[in-house]
Amino acid sequence: MGQGLAAHLRKEFRLDWNGIHGASHWARVRFHGVSLARGLGLDPRVPALFGLVHDSQRRNDDHDPEHGPRAAEYAHWLWRKGVIALDAASMALLREACHGHSDGHVEAHPLVQVCWDADRLDLGRVGIRPDPRYLCTVAAKDPRRIARAWAWSTR
Ligand SMILES: [Fe+2]
Ligand SMILES: [Fe+2]
Repeated sequence: MGQGLAAHLRKEFRLDWNGIHGASHWARVRFHGVSLARGLGLDPRVPALFGLVHDSQRRNDDHDPEHGPRAAEYAHWLWRKGVIALDAASMALLREACHGHSDGHVEAHPLVQVCWDADRLDLGRVGIRPDPRYLCTVAAKDPRRIARAWAWSTR
């Protein structure tokens, strides 16, 4: 992550930095996304950025159905400003991943699926065990991966 991006996200985030949608969640989602992408032979840059940006525009820790679209627009703004460096096609995937991440979808480009799985693998922090039916990729549905993610998110 560039210094510029970290500073922007920290300044912009309205909620508890140590809360359920704060920095430790972002870090775990980033880790899961990069791991899943590498396992599939995909470029990990989009999932890495997704982890950091996807919940950064939340306005509360409860019901905020527009936080995904807001994150997509914020990511695009950061890209236009040069804070996020990505080719245009990858940026389109990052926007798509942010936009729809809390809508329960499972069908998408493999990199977008990796992003959504990474977020859902961290549901243990709110007491929800990740359910393979709501995960997109075979790698994320692996019971061993779910068990590891659960242990990490609940500790
Ligand atoms: Fe979210
Ligand atoms: Fe999230």
